Amino acid sequence: MVSWSDTRRVDVQLPGGRYPILVGSDLLARLPAALESVGLHPGPVAIVSDSAVAAIHGGAVEAALVSAGFRIATSTRFPPGEATKSFDNLLALFDAFAAASLDRTAPVLALGGGVIGDLSGFAAATFKRGLPFVQIPTTLLAQVDSAVGGKVAVNHAAGKNLIGAFHQPRLVLADITTLGTLPPAERIAGLAEVLKYGVLCDAELFEWITSHAGALRAGESSALQHAVVRSCEIKSAVVAEDERDLGRRAILNLGHTVGHAIENELGYGGIRHGEAVAIGMVAAARIGVALGLTPADVPDRIVAAARSLGLPASVPASIDPASLVASIRQDKKIQAGRLRFIVPTAIGAVEVRDDVTEEQIVAACGS
Ligand code: NAD
Ligand code: GLY
Repeated sequence: MVSWSDTRRVDVQLPGGRYPILVGSDLLARLPAALESVGLHPGPVAIVSDSAVAAIHGGAVEAALVSAGFRIATSTRFPPGEATKSFDNLLALFDAFAAASLDRTAPVLALGGGVIGDLSGFAAATFKRGLPFVQIPTTLLAQVDSAVGGKVAVNHAAGKNLIGAFHQPRLVLADITTLGTLPPAERIAGLAEVLKYGVLCDAELFEWITSHAGALRAGESSALQHAVVRSCEIKSAVVAEDERDLGRRAILNLGHTVGHAIENELGYGGIRHGEAVAIGMVAAARIGVALGLTPADVPDRIVAAARSLGLPASVPASIDPASLVASIRQDKKIQAGRLRFIVPTAIGAVEVRDDVTEEQIVAACGS
């Protein structure tokens, strides 16, 4: 197994086997060795990326693979953006895989953010009933969240991620160096998911984030590496307990109920997902206070941490609280007509509640 002194490794342990997440700098050049370490030997591979990421990092990946004896059987680039997670693009990948005569030994390599990981992972899950899949996440959000845990999907007119599967990667190669070319606003949005892990189960991580906010905002490699490693440790532990999202994995949706509703209200491109999640975490903590579960200082501590990272913490004034509640009601997490909320009960602890009232949501989302 690959072991590099500057690279940290987190294992995701699942009933079907385990896979490594390698987190370090300048890892793209070491992709072939990492593939070999998980039993993916030189042969045909499929690369899927978006045009912005491919223009910056695609050449390094392809050169490393070719010089190690891998063959790029097909390389597909999609336009950047959420609209790429479509059924049409899924079919385009099937066409490319079929034209390249990929067999079930050929890995699909996802080079990009969560959009590319979700789309190509679903193609890998379904083409010939499953190809090996490798995540090479290049956004902070993808390194700390979407590349880990096996959820893959495309969007449908009736909802985001409506058509999907669980297809665990064989390897996640999280190269911190690639984050250096990420627009700063994208990096900051990813920090919301790191903060989420602190709020939901790791008070020490929360404190570490607040004391390293400047380094994280500035994109310092060692701070980002620590943030990615700790986030992956937490997410893999949750996924190991509940791979199929039937119970505990729901806690990973902290901040997402209000967050998704804000995204819906503002429309595509109106706010970044991580920004909406930061606001949603504050609202969830306020709901906890209203339910009598959460100490009164917790919302303010989350607000301060979010702001120190450059994230918003309050619902934009343009959003009407009543239509926000209507949007939440549409959320797929509603079970048996009840609103399901992940509520922080302290920094580092959460409860799942289904007794939250619309009045409490409106109050929590007010200024
Ligand atoms: P993204 O994939 O759209 O990437 C954001 C932008 O950053 C894009 O414009 C991309 O071209 C650019 N980019 C990516 N890496 C870059 C780099 N290194 N340098 C320069 N530019 C770069 O967005 P995202 O935030 O990574 O992912 C969002 C998606 O992830 C959503 O579709 C969401 O549903 C999904 N998601 C999935 C899971 C899961 O468990 N599968 C979890 C969370 C989110
Ligand atoms: N992003 C939530 C999950 O993976 O379950």
